[in-house]
Amino acid sequence: FKQQISKEVMAQTKFFKDFPKKGINFMDLFSITTKPALFRKVIDALKTLIEVEVGRPGEAFNYLVGLEARGFVLGPILAMEYGLPFTAIRKKGKLPGDTIVEEYKLEYGSDACEIQKEVLDQSSRVLILDDLLATGGTLCAAMNLIQKCDGAQVVASVVVFDIPALKGRDKLTKACHALISLD
Ligand code: PRP
Repeated sequence: FKQQISKEVMAQTKFFKDFPKKGINFMDLFSITTKPALFRKVIDALKTLIEVEVGRPGEAFNYLVGLEARGFVLGPILAMEYGLPFTAIRKKGKLPGDTIVEEYKLEYGSDACEIQKEVLDQSSRVLILDDLLATGGTLCAAMNLIQKCDGAQVVASVVVFDIPALKGRDKLTKACHALISLD
């Protein structure tokens, strides 16, 4: 199923060369969401990927967490389909109330992401959703942040695209499953 969905996405969408930086061939998730039939197929393929590589919703995992910004598109759709809770990890300063913060290094400087306090606890077995695994900095920070939340556990993460050449998985403590690999 991965080959089939890769072929369809590649045929129906375009890449943005040198975005956000020179040397990166960027596949924009919004070039899928603007095509409802393709978007439906991508969501169905993600569900298959999750069932095959992560396990049954409600059993293998019981909470979905989406990363800013495109994880907010994918996460709630799957949460509604599974009847599971969804929450967001945002860049620092965007969430109301008490939060837990994780700082992480960028190529130049640093950044921070956060989650609302008390949304996760020791009963939470989290599947993380995002559009892309590139250098792995974002997912690594998200995994660390969730592990700081009152005994919550990260089960795995799922992305639509990964760029294996950037070796993002080397930074991660839990598995990241990708639907489409961009070489
Ligand atoms: C992109 C992408 C991932 C992250 C992956 O988001 O949506 O979240 O980068 O890159 P990494 O593996 O090198 O960390 P971006 O930081 O551009 O934020 P945005 O979606 O809010 O624009």
